Amino acid sequence: MNDLQNIHVAIIMDGNGRWAKKRGLPRAFGHKEGVNTAKRILKYAREKNIHTLSMFAFSAENWFRPKEEVSYLMQLLNEYALSEWDFIVNNNVKFVISGRIDLIPDKTRQLLLDLIDASKNNKGMILNLALSYSAKDELVDTIKSIYNKVAVGELSIDDLDYDIIQNNLYIPEIQNIDLLIRTSGEKRLSNFMLWRLAYAELFFTDVLWPDFDETHFQEALNEFSHRIRRFGQTDEQLKR
Ligand code: FPP
Repeated sequence: MNDLQNIHVAIIMDGNGRWAKKRGLPRAFGHKEGVNTAKRILKYAREKNIHTLSMFAFSAENWFRPKEEVSYLMQLLNEYALSEWDFIVNNNVKFVISGRIDLIPDKTRQLLLDLIDASKNNKGMILNLALSYSAKDELVDTIKSIYNKVAVGELSIDDLDYDIIQNNLYIPEIQNIDLLIRTSGEKRLSNFMLWRLAYAELFFTDVLWPDFDETHFQEALNEFSHRIRRFGQTDEQLKR
């Protein structure tokens, strides 16, 4: 059985638009309900002692959605940071962001940076919000960062290994993903945290994100706990 403590769970929260469409509502309603789900799942993950929770809230590609939808998502992000502030700070949750956040509107970006600062000494859990995020951008930015260190003689390219790459990712302290959950029936990785997904267990559900609740989350955790993780080895080696 895999331990459920100290794991990194990542979620691709998909299906807000379809949830709204099924009800004859504008997409915005799906996003609003999606934020409520994200709040409930954070609380449940904290209760369950999940070490790191990564949530894909806004991709680099999402900037190309209609202007009104993008600006509503930014507004929701702002409301989310304000409403979750006390929970995060008072429940020992360290809030971090992965992504090119210089693109986030000034006021919201500042609020997010303030929340990062206010929670930076918390050690109970890491909440990693992927915002303006693309795993390919992260790899480009990582390579640039390594190149700059090589250029000033801080690093030698001959020493390049997994640890050096890990240490130059957006948030180096975030470890490999153990379990990836994607809602809404889509079975894709969509440019999400590719380096850390190398040996993740994948859990796909048809449930649309706004309908995803604690029971569904627990179901994913239960399934994960029974998965055999070989990391490329044989069953016999694992038994040793
Ligand atoms: C997918 O639904 C979701 C997004 C594009 C990101 C928005 C996510 C939320 C609002 C939830 C959490 C937000 C925060 C700030 C924690 P979709 O629009 O792609 O759905 P569809 O595929 O059915 O159209």
